[in-house]
Amino acid sequence: MFRKIELDAPCVGTIEKEYLCKAIDSGFISTFGPYVPEFETKMADYLGIKSCVAVQSGTAAIYMALYQLGIGHGDEVIVPALTFTATVNPVLYVGATPVIVDVDEMTWNINPEKIMEAVTQKTKAIIPVHLYGNPCDMVEIMKIAGQHKLRVIEDATESLGAKVNNKDTGGFGDFGCLSFNGNKLISTGGGGMVVSNDAEQMDRIRYLINQAKDKDKAEVHSEMGFNYRMTNIEAALGLAQMEKISAFLDKKRSFRKIYQNALSDLPFVRFQEPHPTGTQSHWFTCMRIIGERRLLDIMEKLKEKGVPVRRIFAPIGTMPYLTQYSRNCSSAVKIFNSGLCLPSSTLNAENDIKDVASIIREVLGG
Ligand SMILES: Cc1ncc(COP(=O)(O)O)c(C=O)c1O
Repeated sequence: MFRKIELDAPCVGTIEKEYLCKAIDSGFISTFGPYVPEFETKMADYLGIKSCVAVQSGTAAIYMALYQLGIGHGDEVIVPALTFTATVNPVLYVGATPVIVDVDEMTWNINPEKIMEAVTQKTKAIIPVHLYGNPCDMVEIMKIAGQHKLRVIEDATESLGAKVNNKDTGGFGDFGCLSFNGNKLISTGGGGMVVSNDAEQMDRIRYLINQAKDKDKAEVHSEMGFNYRMTNIEAALGLAQMEKISAFLDKKRSFRKIYQNALSDLPFVRFQEPHPTGTQSHWFTCMRIIGERRLLDIMEKLKEKGVPVRRIFAPIGTMPYLTQYSRNCSSAVKIFNSGLCLPSSTLNAENDIKDVASIIREVLGG
């Protein structure tokens, strides 16, 4: 491979530079400035949701959602076995107990049947994660939540652009949480957003992330607050990236098609597939290599040929600090042992991905 293939690097360029220069020239480089509310409004319009509050990270967004819902000591929060650790950490920050639930082997997302088995008197919330841009079965999850009076915080940090029944992820639960970390569909360098249709609760979050500063008396802080505000510089990047969001999604969709056309006839290859109600954003194209083939050897061979790939998140209950919450999650283990994230950065050209797909095929002996 002669060209450098990117796994998940962000695509930034001229528009981003223009927005950043404007932010700097305006003097607003910190948390005040017009780009933050503008970015929030643009995202709300894009998602078709009432309110968005920009914050410092996706982790902060999940934390604020749990905090605002009053979830804490003695409460249980259901999380999927396959996710990044940042889904679970905020549950611990508020003092609640994560209850780890196995995933579905087709979607790799939390299995609604297993959610029902895990609900107890102490369960207060579910955090479904739309893993790698593949949306969860939100219809079923919202039904279960309704039956048991549970709150739902969607971890939509990986799923901007993904839909369920044509509605954007993040807008089904009480809150949705986005991330604009360096490798996400759009990036602000580092940042996140809480999104919701509940304007009243969002006003509270907006106030809490600004050190709970009293609206009328700036010197008064009526309660403990947080400094999780996004800066004008970050929002400038976000606005520039919003202009490219459709192009990014189109490109990622075409990458998935290329991989699928090149590899899906191999009997030992299984792509991560959507639920019938879901439309993937293809933040990452992911697949499993089933059978005796050794994943680490395959990864090594791909690396030698200039193809960067990444393993799937390890089942969350195997993290040393979370083993006390570990449960039997055999589907998550199977996916971890056989799954790969393929090069999906929008810096790659479609021809690069065609070459990558041929190399993968050759390495797999297809
Ligand atoms: C599933 C998941 N949840 C939460 C996060 C946290 O987002 P951030 O890195 O912006 O804090 C991420 C991304 O990093 C993620 O992939």
